[in-house]
Amino acid sequence: MKQIDKSKPVMVTGATGYVAGWLVKSLLEEGLTVHAAVRSPDNKKKTAHLDEIAAKTTGSIKYFKSDLLQEGSYAEAMKDCELVYHTASPFVLDVKDPQKDLIDPAVLGTKNVLDTANKTASVKRVVVTSSCAAIYTDCIDCESAPNGMLTEELWNTTTSLEYQPYSYSKTLAEQKAWEMVKQQDQWDLVTINPCFVMGPVLNPKNSKSESLSFVKQLADGTMKMGVPKIGTGVVDVRDVAKAHYQAGFVPSAQGRYITAGHNTDFLEMGTVLQSKYGKQYPLPKRALPKWLLMIVGPWANKLFTRPFIKKNVNIAWKADNSKIKKELGMEFIPLQKTMEDSFQVLVDHKLI
Ligand SMILES: NC(=O)c1ccc[n+]([C@@H]2O[C@H](COP(=O)([O-])OP(=O)(O)OC[C@H]3O[C@@H](n4cnc5c(N)ncnc54)[C@H](OP(=O)(O)O)[C@@H]3O)[C@@H](O)[C@H]2O)c1
Repeated sequence: MKQIDKSKPVMVTGATGYVAGWLVKSLLEEGLTVHAAVRSPDNKKKTAHLDEIAAKTTGSIKYFKSDLLQEGSYAEAMKDCELVYHTASPFVLDVKDPQKDLIDPAVLGTKNVLDTANKTASVKRVVVTSSCAAIYTDCIDCESAPNGMLTEELWNTTTSLEYQPYSYSKTLAEQKAWEMVKQQDQWDLVTINPCFVMGPVLNPKNSKSESLSFVKQLADGTMKMGVPKIGTGVVDVRDVAKAHYQAGFVPSAQGRYITAGHNTDFLEMGTVLQSKYGKQYPLPKRALPKWLLMIVGPWANKLFTRPFIKKNVNIAWKADNSKIKKELGMEFIPLQKTMEDSFQVLVDHKLI
C-alpha cells in the first residue's frame, strides 16, 4: 500500500501529448506540482495550453528536456518525485521502420524511465500508460478469450514487427515494465490499459495523436460511402486522465486496469454524431460490406490488409471493465457525449 505525499512533485513523461494533457490538468487542479518531462520544453506551441491551465489553478508546472532514447535524461525531472507517470510512447499506425519508430522508443524508453526510478530514492509508485493493444491484436481475439471478453489476465500473443507493430510496441513495453518491477522493492507498478481514446483535444492545432486523425476522417468525407464496421472499445480522454489519477493516488491500486468505457465499433462512433452534425458534415451512415473491403481495402489503405479485414471487420469487441470500476471507482462518460465533444473541438478550431 503506497501513500503518495501530495506536497511532492509528480513527474509526467510526454506531458505535451493528448492523453497526458488531461492528466496534467487534473494534477494541476488538485494543486500539485507537475514535472513535465518533454522533448521540446521551449516549443510554446506544445506547452502554451498547459501553461494556461496552470495559471488558472493552484498547481504549478515545470518543464524538463527529456527523450525516451536518451539514457539518464529523466533524472532531473524525477528528482524528489514519489509518483511517476510514464505516458510517452509513439502512437502512430503508419510507420516506415517499426523497430526504430515504435519498438525502440516504447521499450528502451520504458527501460530508461524505470532505470532512473531505480536510482531515485524518492520514487514510490510508477504508473505506466499501456494499452488494450497489449492485451489483444484483432477483434477475433475477443471470441477466443474466456467468456468472449478481454480481461487483465490476457496478453497479446499475435502481434509482431510485421503485423500491427504499434500493438507489438505496447506489449513489449508493458512486459519490460513488469519484468523490471520484480527486480526491486522500492516502487510499485500500476498500468492503465486504455482502449481507443476519444474526447476533446486540449491542443487541437498541434496534436498528432491517431485519436484526432480518426475524428477528422469521420468529418472530412473519407468515410461518407460507408465505414468498415470494426469492433473497438472507446473511452473518453477525461476518464483516462481520471483513471491515471486514481492509479497514482489510491494506495491499494494494483496490477493492470482495462480502461474501456464502451464496447462499440467504428460505425456506431460515426452514427452517434448524426443527430447533431449529420446535416452539415458527410458522416458515415452505413457499414461497408466485408467482401468489398476484401477487394478494395488493401488498395485504398496499406493498413487494411486482407488478414486484418478478415479478423476485425464485422466482429464485436468486448472487454470486461469491472476491475477498474470496483477498485478505482470509475464510471464512464456516455459514448454520444464523448464523440460530440471530440467533434465540437475540431469545429470550434476550424479544423474540419
Ligand atoms: N490515443 C489512444 O487511443 C491511446 C489508447 C491506448 C493507449 N494510448 C497510449 O497513451 C499514450 C499517449 O498517447 P496519445 O494518444 O496521447 O498520443 P500523443 O498525443 O501522440 O502522445 C504521445 C507522446 O509521446 C511522446 N513521445 C513520442 N516519442 C517520444 C520520444 N522519442 N521521446 C520522448 N517523448 C516521445 C510525444 O512527445 P511530443 O509531444 O514531443 O511529440 C507525446 O507527448 C501512449 O503511451 C499511447 O500508446 C493511447
